[in-house]
Order: sequence, then structure tokens, then C-alpha cells
Amino acid sequence: MELAAFRALEPLCWRAPSAHNTQPWRLDHQNGVVRVGWEQAYTLPAADPSGRDLRLSLGAFVETCLVVAADAGLRLEFVADHCAEDRRVGWLRASPHRYDTPFGAAQVRARRTHRGRFSAGPDAEVTAAVDAIARSSGGTVRTVPDAALLARLLRIADRQVYADPAVVGELRSWLRLTPAHPDYRADGLTDRCLGLSRGEATVLRTALAAYPVLRRVGLPRLLAAASGNPLALGGAVIVLVGPPGSDDATQVEFGRVLARTWLTLHTAGLAAHPLSQLIDSPATRAALGSLLGVAPERLLHAARVGRPVSPAEPSARRIGGTGSNGPGRSGRLDGK
Ligand SMILES: Cc1cc2nc3c(=O)[nH]c(=O)nc-3n(C[C@H](O)[C@H](O)[C@H](O)COP(=O)(O)O)c2cc1C
Repeated sequence: MELAAFRALEPLCWRAPSAHNTQPWRLDHQNGVVRVGWEQAYTLPAADPSGRDLRLSLGAFVETCLVVAADAGLRLEFVADHCAEDRRVGWLRASPHRYDTPFGAAQVRARRTHRGRFSAGPDAEVTAAVDAIARSSGGTVRTVPDAALLARLLRIADRQVYADPAVVGELRSWLRLTPAHPDYRADGLTDRCLGLSRGEATVLRTALAAYPVLRRVGLPRLLAAASGNPLALGGAVIVLVGPPGSDDATQVEFGRVLARTWLTLHTAGLAAHPLSQLIDSPATRAALGSLLGVAPERLLHAARVGRPVSPAEPSARRIGGTGSNGPGRSGRLDGK
């Protein structure tokens, strides 16, 4: 009964955040439980070879499912059961109790990543609240104290991203820089979400198309420089730190922590702009770890957070939301 009713809510669950907006999750209803898994076609083998962002995204999706179900009065729980071979993180099943959460469908619908200007960073109360969320799962949230070092690290990380043809090719395949793109309303990163003007989007499209030819004559550095310095747009950078010895299941659990963190920020009128490249690049991850006095492998996610000056554009989804192509659309899986 609970699971049958949950089916109708699934399009809203799709509002969960995911790296490059690939929406990698997959729900399968089977014999009174719902298997939560992922689609290989929506993973990022070049940008996310360890699968860390995949597992964080899946955890964020699980948390979103529980929040959406609880808001509708459904009693669901998640049973973690990570199995990489089966591409599964666990099961949703009926529970005697409604999931206890301060968040609801309205926040899931309205929350969004914000890559624009912030008028202020989080105050001490919000910082303490998100740290308390991470601590309840054995982690912590730390604010990065040294802005000048952070700006240098970001430049290094951006250069590393653009120096790798596989990472650039993968990013390009998820960019939607013109509304004429066939998947503009389905997934990926649109020009609008990235805050690009039409001219900037055209320049980026042209530069990325020329990448294979111009890679050896300095284009990667130019692209990295063109990314600018998001830290100049205000806010503070926070880092989600997991417990020592985290395994894959812990990273899924911290995806749930990440979703709770972002919903907490949203409720306080704030937003997050993830800077995953700081964690992806081994050099900047190590530098960040030593700055925070934390083993680098415990760093799970970094984001600039603050109070947006203006609203952000809503991102696309394959099902539900505005301009959806409707449930069951799976062109990408059929070999785009
Ligand atoms: C684990 C994870 C890593 C992410 N990394 C980045 C990032 O490095 N840079 C960025 O601009 N957005 C990043 N994002 C934000 C996604 O691009 C965003 O969630 C997605 O496009 C959907 O948009 P929404 O959050 O507004 O719904 C990340 C999101 C997740 C869940």
C-alpha cells in the first residue's frame, strides 16, 4: 500500500541533486520492496573514477525519497545494502513509523544549486546546524579558513580538470549550452544553470569543440582561466568530512547527510555551489586535508555556501518537473 502510493511521488524524488545532473538512480518495485540502484550509463567514469560523487548522489536521492514519502504521510524506511556488482545501494520498504524529518516536499521542489553571487556566508548558527547533521553520522562539516590558499587550490584543480581529455569529453557530453540540445529539458548542465550568457555559452561550446585540436597549444589553461574565481562571488567554503575508514556504504550515508545539509541551508535562505574539483584532484585534496588537519581520504565534498543575491534557474529532470519528457524516457540508455 505505502509502496504503491510512493510510485506517484517518484517524479518529485527526481529533484534530488546529482553530479553533472546525470540522475544516476533507478528504482525497481519488486515483491513488496523497492530496490534503489543505479544505471551505469549515468555514471561519470572519467570525472568520478572512484564513484564517490555517484554514491553521494545516490544517498541524496535516498534522503529525498524519504522526505517526499514522509511529507505525503507514507511510512517508509531505507535499509542500506550496498552491492557494487548488483549496482544497488539498498531497499526502500514499508515501516511502522513515518520517517522523522524537518523537511518536506516544498523544500525538495524549491532547493537548487546556486553558482551566482552570494551577499553573505552562513552564520554561526547555520554552520553549527550542518556540522551537527554530519556529526550524527560520525563526520563533521568544516569551514575552510584560508581564502587566498583556497583560490590557488581552485586554480590548480580547474587546470587539472581541463588538462584531461577524458574528463573534458565527459563534461561536454553533459553540457546543454543551447536550448536546441535534444536533452536540454531532461538532464545535464544548462547554460542557464551555469549562469552563462548566450555569448558565453557559444564561446564555451566552440572552445570545447576545438579542444582535441587546441589541447596542446594552451586551450586547457585558457578554459581553466575562463572558469574565473567563484570565490570572488562571495560566501564561505565548507567541506564535508566523513569518519575515518569510510567504505562505499558510508559514502551513500553521507549523500543523505549532504541532502540534509543542503535542505538546511535552503530553509535558512542559503544555497550551495559545489566545488568537487577540489576533492577530485589528489594534489588539492591533500592540501585541503593538511589545511584542515584531516586525512585527505576523509574529505567527501566541498561547496561554496551563502545567501544568493538572486534566484537560480531550476535544473532539468528526465521525469517530473517543468518541461519533462515524461516517465519512461530513456533515450540515453538506448545509446545516445
Ligand atoms: C555529489 C555532487 C557533486 C557535485 N559537484 C558539482 C560541482 O563540482 N560543480 C557544480 O557546479 N555543481 C556540482 N553539483 C551540483 C549538480 O550539478 C546539481 O545538483 C545538478 O545540476 C542538479 O541541479 P540542482 O542541484 O539545482 O537540482 C554536484 C552535486 C552533487 C550531488
